[in-house]
Amino acid sequence: MYDLSSIIIKDNPVILGIESSCDETAAAVIRGRKLLSSKIISSATEQAKFGGVVPEIASRAHTEAVDEVVRQAVEEAGLTLKDIDAVAVTYGAGLLGALLVGLSFAKSLAYTLNVPLIAVNHIRGHMAAAYLVDEELKPPFITLLASGGHTAILHTKTYTDFEILGGTSDDAAGEAFDKVARVLGLSYPGGVNVERLALNGENSVPLPKCQVKNTQVLQFSYSGLKTAVINYCHNKEQKGEEVDKENVACSFQHAAVDPLVKNAVALALKLGVKTVTAGGGVIANGYLRATLEEECKKAGLKLILPEKKYCTDNAAMIAAEGLIQYKAGNFAPLSINARAQIPLK
Ligand code: KG4
Ligand code: ZN
Repeated sequence: MYDLSSIIIKDNPVILGIESSCDETAAAVIRGRKLLSSKIISSATEQAKFGGVVPEIASRAHTEAVDEVVRQAVEEAGLTLKDIDAVAVTYGAGLLGALLVGLSFAKSLAYTLNVPLIAVNHIRGHMAAAYLVDEELKPPFITLLASGGHTAILHTKTYTDFEILGGTSDDAAGEAFDKVARVLGLSYPGGVNVERLALNGENSVPLPKCQVKNTQVLQFSYSGLKTAVINYCHNKEQKGEEVDKENVACSFQHAAVDPLVKNAVALALKLGVKTVTAGGGVIANGYLRATLEEECKKAGLKLILPEKKYCTDNAAMIAAEGLIQYKAGNFAPLSINARAQIPLK
């Protein structure tokens, strides 16, 4: 019988994280805030043939990979399943069929081992990745979050409470990168390919920066910028002129990234918060990382930046958020269901 009544909450528990919200099947093991292993089996190459993630293919790939990726993560950590104190798993947001694979696996593992199941919001996972970079990191801090589905600036006040200082009113930053990649004829996954192309380009194409409206919370808007890129390319084509794709990629990158960095730093200074962190796939962007580092340094802010592989989807971040929830005693019932969408807060 599944009975957690005699569970002792440890200071440095061993937590297995499992992530399967999109096209990466991932597992990772942490002990306290120390990362012991992180493994990913990705179906991105298969998805690339279709120009994006096909949910059915993702679900099937997760089913084939989940057992193996967990086995690898536990082995690389030098542990056995018996050493695991809790299983943390993404329960949303994401593709329902894909989420269900990881969630069902985590439930059965938690049940078999008689350990707590921790249901993690994927985005909270991205926010928690920074905890593994610096074991001393404590709230308060400002987080620049930019992924395929979210763009936000957040103020983490305690381990379990945060305030949204800024968000997007239309596309997320990652979505804009992916759409511009498609316009430029680049293959999936788009963001990293735009970055590669931009390396040899110049910031010479006149594009409007991603818009920022200063309402009660800052509102970023990417749809105008995306349309400007599309119009620029179409105009050139109609005139029979060649589109300098490298310059378009570079100019777009500046227009998409600069306002995010500028506002994250400005908000930290305004609120007197001394530490800035970042998370989400777009934070793997080299230009964004360099700009954020430079601006934080200029402003005298401490920047905690996860390695690129912990910005894009991974399970180490899920385990990290699992640790926060474990310490808060926030365990999920085995009846918990996956959710395609979860509000940021
Ligand atoms: O966090 P993530 O891996 O998945 C979501 O939770 O959405 O973010 C994926 C997004 C995609 O839109 C992808 O194009 C973007 O992050 N991305 C990048 C880079 N690497 C991933 N965007 C810009 N530059 C990159 N190097
Ligand atoms: Zn993600």
